This record gives sequence, C-alpha cells and structure tokens, in this order.
Amino acid sequence: MDNKKVHIMQHPLIKHKISYLRNKNTGTKIFNELVSEIAMLICYEATRNLPLQTVEIETPLAVAKAEVISGKKMAIIPILRAGLGMVEGVKTLVPNAKVGHIGLYRDEKTLQPVQYYCKMPPDIDRRDVFVLDPMLATGGSAAAAIQFIKDYGAKSIKLMCIIAAPEGIKKITETHPDVEIFCGVVDTCLNEYGYIVPGLGDAGDRIFGTK
Ligand code: PRP
Ligand code: URA
Repeated sequence: MDNKKVHIMQHPLIKHKISYLRNKNTGTKIFNELVSEIAMLICYEATRNLPLQTVEIETPLAVAKAEVISGKKMAIIPILRAGLGMVEGVKTLVPNAKVGHIGLYRDEKTLQPVQYYCKMPPDIDRRDVFVLDPMLATGGSAAAAIQFIKDYGAKSIKLMCIIAAPEGIKKITETHPDVEIFCGVVDTCLNEYGYIVPGLGDAGDRIFGTK
C-alpha cells in the first residue's frame, strides 16, 4: 500500500492484540478491553504529527521552555454501535476531545448504510475530527459518515479502524481522498455477506454481547 494517506499499523503490540480480538473464544469483557487498548495505540500513531508550540513554564528549579500541543482542538466521532468501543481508549490519550455520534447500520441485504442518529459538536468546523469504527468492510458506512461530517462543516478528518478490507480502503481513498486512514491491519477480502475475512465477525455483536 503506497498511498501516503493510508497508514497500516506495524507496532507489535497492535498486531498481538488484534490476534486475540480475532479469536472466536475471546469473550465480551476481554474483547472490549482489547478494542479500547488497540484504539489507544492507533490514536498514538494518528496524533504523531500534531503541531507543537513552545511555551514558558516554571519547574520547581527553573523557568524552562517547553513544548505543548498547539492549534486546532479534536473531536471524536464513533460510528454507532461498534465505534463506541474505541472511544474510551482514544479519550485516555485526548481527554479534552469533544465526542459526537453518528448512528448507522448496514442494511443486511443491500449492504447500504442507513442513518438513524447524528449529534455533532457545534464547533466541528474548527476541530480535527477522528472518525472511529473498528471495521472498514465495503467502506459504505465510513464513507457516508465522513460525508455527513463534511456536510456539518468539518474540514480535517481522519479515520481510525482496527480491521479493513481492501475494498473499504479503496472506497474511502476514492470518495474522500483528503481523509487519512489509520488502520490496524488490512485483511484478505470480503465474503458474500460483506464480512471481512478472516476478520473477527460482527464487531457490534461482540462488543455488546448481542449474539
Ligand atoms: C459494522 C461496522 C461498520 C460497518 C462496516 O456496523 O461497525 O460500521 O459494519 O461495514 P461497511 O464498511 O460495509 O459499511 P453494523 O452495520 O454491523 O452496525 P452495528 O455496529 O450497529 O452492529
Ligand atoms: N461489520 C462487522 O462488524 N464485521 C465485518 O466483518 C464487516 C462489517
């Protein structure tokens, strides 16, 4: 993958944790902990280029010049339901980020996204937006969510996902070439039902124990 907007995670901790996430015998509690930890590690990579500014601070010993993050503030937008599982991990690193929500589900027959909820921070046009969804399959849900967020005025959007299919990456890079993707791993393909193979199954069901 040589697209500079697509970042596939190489960190061994992320690879290790995704392997446990895939395992069908991993129960809800551990599954949720892993999703949160992986989201935190991907967030660490996705915030690598945040701009810094130098300020003056007083340590107990001296006045010092020190670097702090400057510029735009962040917003986190999980795609319901499964994206909710990633919020806590990202908030651990960026506690002041505002959180918006987009409710989408895939119609099981058409695989087209259906929107049922949307609540955005009011100043989203002035924030760096991180869209969260563990699964990027056909890319239909993420592409639609990103379009809604753009319609609300957001100009800087990054997508964080844990497992992607090549089809999903292609969809986002073609429909939203301005959006950077930070992805834990890219799997082989989609099956006839639009599930990522080998994947981890239905992320929402595994996070919320609904199957
Ligand atoms: C899952 C997943 C993504 C979407 C990915 O959600 O969390 O949002 O499917 O598929 P796509 O790339 O083909 O659009 P789902 O529709 O199962 O809803 P849920 O999170 O409420 O279970
Ligand atoms: N949504 C999921 O939860 N899993 C997949 O494999 C594809 C879409």
